[in-house]
Amino acid sequence: MKVYIAKNYDELSKISASIIIEDMKAKNDIILGFATGSTPIGTYQNLIAAYDAGEISFKNVTSFNLDEYIGLPRAHEQSYNYFMHEQLFNHINIDENNINIPCGDPANIEENIKKYQEKLDSNVIDIQILGIGSNGHIAFNEPGTSFSSNTHVIRLDEGTRQDNKRFFNDISEVPKEAVTMGIKDIMSAKKLIILANGKNKANAVKELLEGEKTEAFPASILLDHENAVLIVDEDAASLLEDI
Ligand code: PGA
Repeated sequence: MKVYIAKNYDELSKISASIIIEDMKAKNDIILGFATGSTPIGTYQNLIAAYDAGEISFKNVTSFNLDEYIGLPRAHEQSYNYFMHEQLFNHINIDENNINIPCGDPANIEENIKKYQEKLDSNVIDIQILGIGSNGHIAFNEPGTSFSSNTHVIRLDEGTRQDNKRFFNDISEVPKEAVTMGIKDIMSAKKLIILANGKNKANAVKELLEGEKTEAFPASILLDHENAVLIVDEDAASLLEDI
């Protein structure tokens, strides 16, 4: 795994976007895997700036998102569908038909998972962007998830709900379940860009790079990926032994 230690969040976001921009220039029908949460927002801002400058186009791009809360309507401000449109899709020329986001409608969950998985299986993601949860989750694959999992429903850890309550008025509003791409699906991407910033990610980054491979810490599988880049800021790198 290649590791970059950026000075700060701005630099982290620039490095991550520059890798994506370079690959987009080489392949205009690239398949991009997007993540939500606060970490990738700066990367998306840099992608929008490159699009505005005429450097890249999303016209032929296909996208897959990692996960979605179950039970929040698409129009809810905290749904990941809403987030992706606000943070990226509304600002670029991606074709709405080429956007794939797991559907969190509790009424048709199994049917929608099947459709999403079929779509995923007939495409190979060129670059998957990933954050890490403070408990080592990747997407919403919480500790204990099988490394061979595909898209599935997951009960969110209490720690994850606490981490994410900052986006809601109150913990009681944070959904208890989500649908997430599986770990096997994530590992099938050709390239992974893993991002972590801030002191609250320092333990997770240390565990990822220095801990054992175990399903109790899902991100530990990422070291097995042949083309993974980890970009962290100095705060997230602050507990590493060799730095
Ligand atoms: P964050 O979430 O980017 O909001 O820190 C990352 C994650 O939980 O995967």
